[in-house]
Amino acid sequence: MPSQPPDSSKPKPRYTLDEGAPGAFEGETVTRRKFMTGGAMAIGGVATAAFGLPALGFALGPQFEDGTPDRWQDMGPEGEFSVSTYVPKVMNLVADAGEAGKHTVYIRKFDPKRDSKRNADLPYVAISNRCAHLGCPVRYIQASKRFVCPCHGGVYEFEGKVAGGPPVRPLDRFYTRVRGGRVEVGERFSLNSELRRFSVRDPSNHLDGPWQYLYPSRPST
Ligand code: FES
Repeated sequence: MPSQPPDSSKPKPRYTLDEGAPGAFEGETVTRRKFMTGGAMAIGGVATAAFGLPALGFALGPQFEDGTPDRWQDMGPEGEFSVSTYVPKVMNLVADAGEAGKHTVYIRKFDPKRDSKRNADLPYVAISNRCAHLGCPVRYIQASKRFVCPCHGGVYEFEGKVAGGPPVRPLDRFYTRVRGGRVEVGERFSLNSELRRFSVRDPSNHLDGPWQYLYPSRPST
């Protein structure tokens, strides 16, 4: 004889014993199987959140960062710079750190005929001398119009894009502006191979495709 469906008009028994659950104890309101299943799911949820939420924060955090610099440094009069070559300047990368905070930056005028339009809002190109491979100081060679790293042979072309060797992304840059006829540089930023801007990353951090989400920006860089 086919079994009858449970009568939904009857209230569900409060105790597992009344339900006729196998192995039920007197006074038990939930079976051990249900209890264990619920507990395992709760622990799984907590573990997933513990790993997932920080990863999500790392991935999405940089998208909400305000890239507008709040500290600008004078680099000299506009007339000192041209579109055809870089002028090396020394700036303080870390405020109040003395010599240890000094950093070389190569500056030239933005060239609308030759430069990528992605950064056309910045009147000057200010390139960091920190190699994007492992951080050695690169040098600009005017004869070849390239930046060269002495450590492992990294080479960057005139705009700072990788031309050869192990570096994984272009050289970092700084925001620039002109105030009272003088060129100022602001915060540093990193770039992917298409010269799209990102908050500053450590050397060796890729920024193309999904890699941009796997290498979070670190304030210490
Ligand atoms: S640190 Fe520049 S190529 Fe390795």
